[in-house]
Amino acid sequence: NNLFSERIGPEGIDWPAMLAAHARSLEVARDALLERKSNPEAFLGWIDVPEDTETLRRVLRYRQANGWVEDLVVLGIGGSALGAQAVSAALGNGSVRLHFVDNVEPEPIIGLLRTLEPHKTLVNVISKSGSTAETMAAFLVFRQWLELAVTDWKKHVVVTTDPAKGILRPYAEAEGLTAFEVPPSVGGRFSVTCPVGTLPLAFAGVDLESLLAGARKSNEQARGALEHNLPAQTALVNHLFSQRGKNIVVFMPYSTRLRYLPDWFVQLHDESLGKMRDRQGNEVRTGTTAVRAIGTTDQHAQVQLFREGPRDKLTTFVRLLAPSENLEIPAVKGLEGLEYLFGKSFFELLDAEAKATAHALAKAGQPNYTLALEKLDAYNLGWLLQHLMWQTAFLGELWNINAFDQPGVELGKEYTYALMGRKGWETLAQELKAEGVE
Ligand code: PA5
Repeated sequence: NNLFSERIGPEGIDWPAMLAAHARSLEVARDALLERKSNPEAFLGWIDVPEDTETLRRVLRYRQANGWVEDLVVLGIGGSALGAQAVSAALGNGSVRLHFVDNVEPEPIIGLLRTLEPHKTLVNVISKSGSTAETMAAFLVFRQWLELAVTDWKKHVVVTTDPAKGILRPYAEAEGLTAFEVPPSVGGRFSVTCPVGTLPLAFAGVDLESLLAGARKSNEQARGALEHNLPAQTALVNHLFSQRGKNIVVFMPYSTRLRYLPDWFVQLHDESLGKMRDRQGNEVRTGTTAVRAIGTTDQHAQVQLFREGPRDKLTTFVRLLAPSENLEIPAVKGLEGLEYLFGKSFFELLDAEAKATAHALAKAGQPNYTLALEKLDAYNLGWLLQHLMWQTAFLGELWNINAFDQPGVELGKEYTYALMGRKGWETLAQELKAEGVE
């Protein structure tokens, strides 16, 4: 029930022929991923996470036991925040308000602290490494804020981190804080279906059983034959167009509820696929730059560039096939110029705009395809998230790179530690000073 339609324009590709021509390399990629899955060092644990119903039950029990929570503050950055943010904005029922602290700009944090009622606030500190500076700084502040305001601050903190590594795990154990695990074989940007995502989403009221069932559906497709292997197919489309100089991939859902999904996708795609070296250590400099856009809003902004600007883009649209609720456009006397809208629904208009834009791009030789979701619910969104993770993994195979590390990001973290005077980073601090950075 997830449709993939191509609209790739006059410069397009002969799709069946291309799929047949690349069948072997896609099968090799699929088999390699499935074979490496049992090796924890391969960071493919995200494939099996949706099968882990035991952890899900623990998450749900914790949520049930904490009915007093009215505000949940997620302290986490990158992969430790973006998934929960995207899904909660799309599907959260508002029973608990979620707040995301993913930057260290002081003013918004002070502003948030002023609005929160500590007795009704739960803080979920999420860091796989258990040491990221932004998250740890926020944790120190929130921990102190709670300690000063409530009698039992430990009840107000829940930790999500690696089972063994980092600073957070031993601290949680020493203090007796409730702690959930990020499986060691699951990287940050692939962690939305483990407690990194599911714990905040349980508080947001998201139907997690269905979210994981949708992810399992994508697993089924990814493991299967190429004709039904949607992630292998969309990875191939991305691969072929990158070979044709489409260096930018626009990700554009037609939904305000999906407004944070492009942020999650940008991180997943760019951090996984922008690599200097291949698996053998040769310099290759792979990657296409993912760009966020929202329909219809950005039809009145970026679409001008997407249509008439350089032919360096491939656009992925996400379109819903049915609304959850609809709104009729009323007729008004005296505004007959708007007759074409009278009696139609908002969803019809949204749908027409999505189709119109896709076709207008195709006519201008700007390739695009659409991922269509039956409707926006936990099952379909779970499918989409896992689909995009699989697509990323397939692209990593096709480009012969490790899609699961992030050496470029890590270096920035190291420099920050050095600049902030962390113990053990003195030599790096000296080097930076010699280079004029202090
Ligand atoms: O995808 C990744 O690995 C990163 O974006 C991390 O999620 C991000 O750097 C935060 O790391 P951590 O969860 O270790 O605090």
